[in-house]
Amino acid sequence: MARTLVLLKPDAVRRGLVGEILSRFEAKGLTIAAMEQRHVDGALADQHYAEHVERDFYPPLRAFVTSGPLVALVLEGDEAVEVVRALNGATDGRKAAPGTIRGDLSLSNRENLVHGSDSAESAEREIAIWFPQLAL
Ligand code: PPS
Repeated sequence: MARTLVLLKPDAVRRGLVGEILSRFEAKGLTIAAMEQRHVDGALADQHYAEHVERDFYPPLRAFVTSGPLVALVLEGDEAVEVVRALNGATDGRKAAPGTIRGDLSLSNRENLVHGSDSAESAEREIAIWFPQLAL
């Protein structure tokens, strides 16, 4: 069974959209293997976004993900990585297709509500960061 790491980012918590987003994942048939609300610090953000820390967009992204509590979870299911990314929609909520989480609920490429691992390798790395007790 595949697993993926999902973050419901601080905008999802602030806007009261945690239940709405979780229900989409659950309705699809994915299972919540672990879930925790956390207020992360810059060091954890840097670890999670290691491949982006040198990018121009990283400082505002870092400020955003540390700006308030988020919900981290591990979802399990057949092709969970690809299925979650399809449900999330394109990075920029303004361009994401209607019917996707971002397409229906976000107007931003920063405050875009959700993160989903981009590959099985990333999922393994990210699950080890957020839920070391679940690491393979
Ligand atoms: S890339 O270049 O394809 O690897 O990057 P991309 O997948 O589009 O984006 C990676 C994460 O960076 C966030 N992002 C931004 N944050 C703040 N400001 C700007 N301008 C910006 N552009 C992209 C984007 O939401 C992605 O976050 P995650 O959590 O990985 O979805």
